[in-house]
Amino acid sequence: MINYKQEQAKPIGVFDSGIGGLTVVRALIKRLPHENIVYFGDTARVPYGSKSPQTVREYADEDTAFLIGKNVKMIVIACNTVSSVAIDVVQKRAKIPVVGVIVPGAKAASEATRNNRIGVIGTVGTIKSNAYTNAIRLENATATVTAQACPLFVPLAEEGWIEHKATELIAKEYLFPLKLAKIDTLVLGCTHYPILSETISAVLGGEITLIDSGEATAKEVERLLIEQQLKNASTHKANLQFYVSDIPHKFTEIGERFLGQTLGRVRQATL
Ligand code: DGL
Repeated sequence: MINYKQEQAKPIGVFDSGIGGLTVVRALIKRLPHENIVYFGDTARVPYGSKSPQTVREYADEDTAFLIGKNVKMIVIACNTVSSVAIDVVQKRAKIPVVGVIVPGAKAASEATRNNRIGVIGTVGTIKSNAYTNAIRLENATATVTAQACPLFVPLAEEGWIEHKATELIAKEYLFPLKLAKIDTLVLGCTHYPILSETISAVLGGEITLIDSGEATAKEVERLLIEQQLKNASTHKANLQFYVSDIPHKFTEIGERFLGQTLGRVRQATL
């Protein structure tokens, strides 16, 4: 017989190519403050966004195995690139509920658009995979989707160049095709982009709705936890554990910016 209380108390496993996925953890904490979380960031092998799907699939399999070893009840793929090209690998390895960021982000964008013109920005891997475009079209077959890779946004966000002339210039260059396409909704299809949302909004101008895939994913995680009777009934302070495969320079500073709160102890993981 399933002991639901015991299952519910287990942590949610979240992984990403690095520390960007902490923006998804931030959204999860906000929506589900009593859920215990184990986070793994593959900082030794980041970035995933410029690597081939085959390599990302191999990494995703190992990342999943690490979290399964932590006895998690659900896996959230915070990384858009992994969610785009390797969700099946994660599902096969995990054998527990898995939530990626693509479908929740695509659904939220389809609900938000008024003129049916949706933009998507992400890593080269995410954009090349067409995962967002396909997921949006499944929701709304008549939507026009304009997708643009913005690889330089990742180092800019990590550098903390939030309100910086260089970021604005690069954003103008990247976002120009989206302006031309007259989008009214933009999916921030990369863990790092919510950090730059103010600049992105300012450059796009007008009344463009930005969709944070992390927030949309947190909503889906809550729905699934309730459906599967896995939502933690405890009202105690959640236990958050952070693991990374390498502790880079300035890790805590960058991590706290992404998480929006102090990180506490960060442990080195060996895969
Ligand atoms: N976490 C990745 C994503 O959301 C961005 C960083 C990377 O390229 O690994 O796609």
